[in-house]
Amino acid sequence: MNVYDSSRIADMLKKEGYEETLKQAEADIVLFNTCHIREKAAEKLFSDLGRAKLIADERAENGQRTIIGVAGCVVQAEDEQIIKRAPYVDFAVGPQMYFRIPEILHKIERTKKHQSVIDTDFPAISKFDFLPENKAQGACSYLAVQEGCNNFCTYCVVPYTRGAEYSRSVADVLTEAKRLIAGGTLEINLLGQNVNSYHGEDESGKERNLAYLLHKIAELDGLKRLRYTTSYPADMTDELITCHKDIDILMPYLHLPVQSGSDKILKAMNRRHSSSDYLKVVEKLYTANPKLKMSSDFIVGFPGETDEDFAQTLDVVNKVKYIQAFSFKYSRRPGTPAAVMENQVEEKVKKERLEILQTLLFDYQTKFNESCVGKTMPVLFEQKGRHKGQLIGRTPYMQNLHIETKDDNMNKIVDVVVCEATTNSLSGKEL
Ligand code: 5AD
Ligand code: SF4
Repeated sequence: MNVYDSSRIADMLKKEGYEETLKQAEADIVLFNTCHIREKAAEKLFSDLGRAKLIADERAENGQRTIIGVAGCVVQAEDEQIIKRAPYVDFAVGPQMYFRIPEILHKIERTKKHQSVIDTDFPAISKFDFLPENKAQGACSYLAVQEGCNNFCTYCVVPYTRGAEYSRSVADVLTEAKRLIAGGTLEINLLGQNVNSYHGEDESGKERNLAYLLHKIAELDGLKRLRYTTSYPADMTDELITCHKDIDILMPYLHLPVQSGSDKILKAMNRRHSSSDYLKVVEKLYTANPKLKMSSDFIVGFPGETDEDFAQTLDVVNKVKYIQAFSFKYSRRPGTPAAVMENQVEEKVKKERLEILQTLLFDYQTKFNESCVGKTMPVLFEQKGRHKGQLIGRTPYMQNLHIETKDDNMNKIVDVVVCEATTNSLSGKEL
């Protein structure tokens, strides 16, 4: 979601006449878009800000002004604290208010004296109505259809930083999808913190679900691939699962976070599913599309997690055989219920469990990647590689694949024979 938000902010700044630069010393504006989900992500902000300030000071010696801004969930959570800790920050906006950046910049550009502007409102209106048109981000584009979350998992800051669930209308989503396709997008990834609880209104005011939206988008001419992320297990309806059978451009890969395999921990996390509910959904998905593969998020060392609870998480991994995963040590987030639970797990234990879990996850990931060697896969090339003539693309399973090829394969789907595999990537040859 932050990648999507950052690209929308970049679009807004381009409209204001700014251009992107990779050299910070050239930047008239330095803007950090931040994540508050785990402590580490938030900590990074202050060290990055310190570095930006040094560069801004050097530029000031040459008479150049640098505007330093912060956007995203750290602003929502820390509010005034940001300005207290880094008083040189010119502006800070929460994730619901970044559409105001141009207006804030005009104000700052007009005033010579430094004054920090902070905006963490949650407007009653949709921020999406205030953003300029979303431009295709290349052959693969993100499209936010839903934002926020009402689930309140006890470890998570999202319901506090991104706010209550909100779904964009079907018409808005379709207009944006058509625009992306016209701009060269072949693959659309529908985004939402809880995307499968999408319930946007259609033109007659009737609420429509994600299954309906997927069918509508799949009908659009020119679109070759469709994905959606991230889903909540308890909201995987049979109708949505059937889409994996009926919609041929829906890619055979689904991110469905389980977090833990222990029912006791899932309950303490306030998740609305047990591990067997989750496994039933996975089985239905595998039946709907036998080619489908899964990825997940895991938290180890949630308060009260015993060795036995952790072993149940490993059991789920062995049953589902994920081909990719994100796993984290539980991180205490201020203001969330789990942060004040008494039975916190020692750091050392968290570290040990994370290592065990990641070894198992990487093993399945490597095995799957190796099983692709010798197979032909359609790959969508969307990035230049480090070497001349190298392109990087994505397989239907979101694996990174690189290839030595002619540049005119960029932004195209090409059949590739997979030659080599590692845990994190594949390499191949054009068929
Ligand atoms: N500690 C560790 N991981 C967390 N996540 C969310 N909150 C926390 C936390 N407090 C993880 C979950 C979620 C992913 C986006 O981040 O696994 O699915
Ligand atoms: Fe956070 Fe996801 Fe739980 Fe919502 S469903 S509270 S975003 S972990």
